[in-house]
Amino acid sequence: MSDAARPDVKGIIHRVIAEKLRFPVVIALCRIRVGGLPLDDLTIRTVAAAFSKQPNHVAELADWVASLVRPTPDARPLYICESVSCCARGAKELHDALLPELEAMGCPRSVRRVHCLDQCEYGPSVDLDGRIYVGGEECIRRDERPWRSEPFVHGEE
Ligand code: FES
Repeated sequence: MSDAARPDVKGIIHRVIAEKLRFPVVIALCRIRVGGLPLDDLTIRTVAAAFSKQPNHVAELADWVASLVRPTPDARPLYICESVSCCARGAKELHDALLPELEAMGCPRSVRRVHCLDQCEYGPSVDLDGRIYVGGEECIRRDERPWRSEPFVHGEE
């Protein structure tokens, strides 16, 4: 992408900032992806600077966003936590903002609403193949404890 296209990334960021979204980094990355712009190093540095985030955290989150639309045979559902702790930390706001972006991106994953992803203190939490977006810091965490192989499920879409 040429530098001439870079104002598009900045324009998306500025619009997200103007909306005063509670979880702006993941939404900005989704909209950049929807806009057909690359989630490359320059984009990651631009997003990180705009939201005062560590570039390595934004890079992990950008890969997580890209994975949402990567064709994967037998893809697992996307697990979104709707339990008490995550709801107190803004799960509804996150889901209201994120789910339309998933649709706009053409995310082929089904969405399953679950009871807990064991990241309560960092949530709201969304699990993509064991990589968990946590809204508290807007970064990706992993739960590699062997006893935690599946989230608690209490509903399904
Ligand atoms: S309540 Fe959401 S991760 Fe535990």
